[in-house]
Amino acid sequence: MVKVLVAGAEGGLGRAFVAALGAGFDTVALGRKGLDVSRRNDVAARLKEIRPEVVIDCAGWSDVDGCENDRWRAYLSNRDGAEHLARGAAEAGALVVYPGCDLVFDGLRAHPYTEEDPPNPLSVYGDTKLAGELAVMSHGPRYLILRSGWLFGEHGRSYVNDLLGWRLTDEVVFGYEDHKAQPTSQADFARAAVELIRRGQTGLWNVASEGEGTQYDVALETYRILGEEKVKVKPLRRGSGNRTALRPRYSVLDGSKLKAAGIGMRPWRDALREFLEARGKK
Ligand SMILES: NC(=O)c1ccc[n+]([C@@H]2O[C@H](COP(=O)([O-])OP(=O)(O)OC[C@H]3O[C@@H](n4cnc5c(N)ncnc54)[C@H](OP(=O)(O)O)[C@@H]3O)[C@@H](O)[C@H]2O)c1
Repeated sequence: MVKVLVAGAEGGLGRAFVAALGAGFDTVALGRKGLDVSRRNDVAARLKEIRPEVVIDCAGWSDVDGCENDRWRAYLSNRDGAEHLARGAAEAGALVVYPGCDLVFDGLRAHPYTEEDPPNPLSVYGDTKLAGELAVMSHGPRYLILRSGWLFGEHGRSYVNDLLGWRLTDEVVFGYEDHKAQPTSQADFARAAVELIRRGQTGLWNVASEGEGTQYDVALETYRILGEEKVKVKPLRRGSGNRTALRPRYSVLDGSKLKAAGIGMRPWRDALREFLEARGKK
């Protein structure tokens, strides 16, 4: 059985990976207490001990505005952590899997970005994620860098989870309408990633939902699915609200490469409906 190490296993995506790997893999799941990826020597020692064949890096700081205000912490988790895991993976001869993101692009165009398009991040977060990719490419001999849009799912912080909380107390909810991207389910992302691992694929891949949407679209759709007509959704524009980091206006990723490999991603509205319905049953 293939031995897999999931770092950052207590975060939203880490948990989705552990679920997607299921019983078919010998998974070692470590949260921050089990493995702090910013500590290079600890990472090297733990990887020597565990000897994984695949290392999945879900340890990171995904708070885009938080990163803007604390560059040191942002680079430590998103870039240095990636380098330490990639170096350890290289020593163990393991494949390293790094979840990248669409915020590596500046969004100055209106058609989807392929894996070949040159990145140009606008925010500290986007910059740390690009630096993480470059660290993985230069230190991990075999890697899968998987870029996605913004993720939602059962665990971790996400706009969809915020919407679920706000509907209980707020009659007016705000959603940005100036950034078109791909809301993507953590579970869908992890399933596609595990399929790429199973097939022995490597390289850079876009792994995001079909379709595109803004936060505003997602808020409308969420409350429509939930039948919460009393909550009014209002659009927010760039410069309003309390964001510090700049987002691209358009960061949709072209999924042709993944589709050609026979791994389809479903439309975000379908994934959102399934997620909300499953939550409703709990
Ligand atoms: N969320 C998105 O929309 C999105 C989209 C594309 C890619 N990604 C990437 O996916 C990865 C996981 O994100 P997520 O959405 O699962 O975020 P998350 O829910 O915040 O989970 C991240 C986890 O990493 C842990 N962590 C942070 N720094 C660490 C360190 N130095 N050592 C060990 N663990 C550390 C966090 O622990 P603490 O809670 O203790 O800090 C947390 O448990 C990140 O690299 C992120 O950039 C996220």
